[in-house]
Amino acid sequence: MAAGTIAVTRWIPAEAVELLATAGRPVVSSLDRPLTHGELCAAVSGAVAVVALLHDRVDAEVLDAAGPSLRVIANVAVGYDNIDVVACHDRGVIVTNTPDVLVEATADLTLALLLAVTRRLVEGDQLLRRHESWTWSLGFMLGTGLQGKRLGLVGNGRIAQAVAVRAKAFGMDVVSTSRSGGVPLGELLATSDVVSLHCPFTPQTHHLVGAASLATMKPTAFLVNTARGPVVDEEALADALERRVIAGAALDVFEFEPQVSERLLASDRVVLTPHLGSATTETRTAMAVLAARNVVDVLAGGRGITPIR
Ligand code: GLV
Repeated sequence: MAAGTIAVTRWIPAEAVELLATAGRPVVSSLDRPLTHGELCAAVSGAVAVVALLHDRVDAEVLDAAGPSLRVIANVAVGYDNIDVVACHDRGVIVTNTPDVLVEATADLTLALLLAVTRRLVEGDQLLRRHESWTWSLGFMLGTGLQGKRLGLVGNGRIAQAVAVRAKAFGMDVVSTSRSGGVPLGELLATSDVVSLHCPFTPQTHHLVGAASLATMKPTAFLVNTARGPVVDEEALADALERRVIAGAALDVFEFEPQVSERLLASDRVVLTPHLGSATTETRTAMAVLAARNVVDVLAGGRGITPIR
C-alpha cells in the first residue's frame, strides 16, 4: 500500500520530518507563513495525518477537506485552543499536543518577563539606544524588588509549578488558583504583587482578566501573560495601564495575535515579546519530535503518546 500523506503545515526541524518519513510521506508547506484557511484545507486533502501549528485553525471544514483517511491531528504546542477537538473526536480523529517538553523553557521566559517588567530592563535599554544623557543616581529608574513579594499563579499545571520553583528562588511567596483548588481568584488578584497567567484558553477563561479583575489588583502590581492572549481583555488592560490601575504588564501572547494593540505598543510600562515561551532550539525540536512520534504511534495503530481526551 502506498504511504499516506502526512501534511505538515509549516517548517519543522529535519529530525521530526525524518521520523514522519518512517510512517508516511511528509509534505511540508514551503511557505514561510501560516497557511490561509483555504490553503490549509487544500494542504490536508486526503492526508492520513496533519502536523499543525498553533496558528492553524483546525475546524470541521478542515476535517471535511481532509476526508475519511485522516487519523490524527498532531498539534506542535501544548495549547490546543486552535483545534475543534469535539469535531475531531466525532470523526474518530485523534488529537495530540506537546506537553512537558516545553515546561522549563516557558517557565524561564515567564521569569525573564517578570524580571524585565519589574526592573524596567526594556525601558533602560531603549533610553540608552536613544542616546539620552543619564547619570547614576539613587533615584534613577527604580524598579520593584521581588524578595518577599507575592506571586499569584492563575493555573496550577506543570508550567505554573515550574514558575513557582523559580520564583521561590527569588524569595517570592507563591500562591496559585485553579479549577481544582488553591486560593480563590479574587483573593489572589487582590493580594498579589505579580499575577502570572498559566491557564488554557477556553470559553471559561476568555477575558478572565478584564476591567473588573484589574480593578481589584494592587496599583503597584504587575501582570504577566505567557498563556494565551484572549485570557486578557487587552482594551481593558490598556485602560488600566493608562489610568495607573496597575503598575505594568509583560505579555508574550496577544488577544488578536499576531496583531499587537497600538495602545500597548505605546506604553512604556509594558514589555512585549512575540510568543517566545517555548522558543529555544532544544525545546522547539523536542516539540516537533514529540508531535512526529504521536503521528507514528497513531499510524501504527496506537492511541497517541500525548492524546487530548
Ligand atoms: C505555545 O504557546 C504552546 O501552546 O505550546
